[in-house]
Amino acid sequence: MKSAHVDPLFWKDKKVFLTGHTGFKGGWLSLWLASMGAKVTGYALAPNTTPNLFHVLAIDSMIEKSHIADIRDLAGLQKAMSMAKPDVVIHMAAQPLVRYSYVNPVETYATNVMGTVHVLDGTRTIESVRATVVVTTDKCYENKEWVWGYRENEPMGGYDPYSNSKGCAELVTAAYRQSYFSAPNSSNKIASARAGNVIGGGDWSEDRLIPDAIKAFEANKPLLIRNPIATRPWQHVLEPLSGYLILAQALFEQGSAFTSGWNFGPCDEDNRAVQEVVELVISNWGDGACWEKEGLEQPHEASLLKLDCTKARTQLGWIPKWSLETAIQKIVQWQKAFQAKENMQEVSLAQINHYLNAK
Ligand SMILES: NC(=O)c1ccc[n+]([C@@H]2O[C@H](COP(=O)([O-])OP(=O)(O)OC[C@H]3O[C@@H](n4cnc5c(N)ncnc54)[C@H](O)[C@@H]3O)[C@@H](O)[C@H]2O)c1
Repeated sequence: MKSAHVDPLFWKDKKVFLTGHTGFKGGWLSLWLASMGAKVTGYALAPNTTPNLFHVLAIDSMIEKSHIADIRDLAGLQKAMSMAKPDVVIHMAAQPLVRYSYVNPVETYATNVMGTVHVLDGTRTIESVRATVVVTTDKCYENKEWVWGYRENEPMGGYDPYSNSKGCAELVTAAYRQSYFSAPNSSNKIASARAGNVIGGGDWSEDRLIPDAIKAFEANKPLLIRNPIATRPWQHVLEPLSGYLILAQALFEQGSAFTSGWNFGPCDEDNRAVQEVVELVISNWGDGACWEKEGLEQPHEASLLKLDCTKARTQLGWIPKWSLETAIQKIVQWQKAFQAKENMQEVSLAQINHYLNAK
């Protein structure tokens, strides 16, 4: 199959309702959509880190409307959705951290499961919606600690509250699709997207490898690593975002053939151990950066996790473009530009253009 590309002509003037626009992935996606002329309405809580991509990229000034509000508030969410009259809904708002979810399981389930119910219920009553993408994660699968990549038809699971809440969000999505949107004449087509470990410039979240590394290196301290041999499917943030955009367009234009779950992960060789990733960051960062193993006992996290992305490659034409080496160079370049107080909208748009032009 020919490889698919994000199509700016499709996105121009499309009304997009994007939850989670104040977050890391949401910031990049808002910028990308706005740069193509899409009319984005964002819905999310206020950013909870300083600095944060929402402010650094001045997302507020680039999109049509920004609601700072809670997806657990059904009435508020549905009012915002009906005002926006979106063509496309991309649902990314979530409590996305594994360790935080151990301490705050109720909040995690309320946000990730009932939040998804609220968004999908909104799309049930708003006639304008033609395509909905629900963003979950590679961690939604029942993890068997095996070397093979998970395929889309494997059982949902999740050991910890975060992973499990995303497995539940997948089940909610499947139930809504079957119950309300399966008729051939149903105008809204729904799919879910399961991405790997996403990395990129402008992530300041707690308890994530790259943000922790940058914070440690900026402070001239060693990075403490919990589990250096754990492997993950690492990918630059623009990779899954391109997958979500290509998927939404396919749902909008071609409908039913695409209403299912989709994996968006890196090439096989970019499923790497944490230690290898950190050493790549260190060699790009320079300045005496180093790491040490954290001694404290940690809550359970999967050791082996890999996605099989054959379906996205063969049916959507989506393929990853940047190797892990390129992704890490881009992150270090972005963070150093931020330190140097460069115009981060320009730096980020240049990275998007570079990504689009990569073969
Ligand atoms: N970053 C990754 O490695 C990764 C990997 C796979 C999947 N994902 C998924 O991608 C999505 C975005 O993740 P991210 O990395 O940008 O996380 P993030 O923490 O940077 O952003 C989360 C967003 O959700 C919003 N949010 C959280 N609780 C909310 C609530 N109750 N009401 C309204 N908004 C709320 C936040 O305000 C923020 O805008 C999530 O669904 C996450 O599970 C992330």
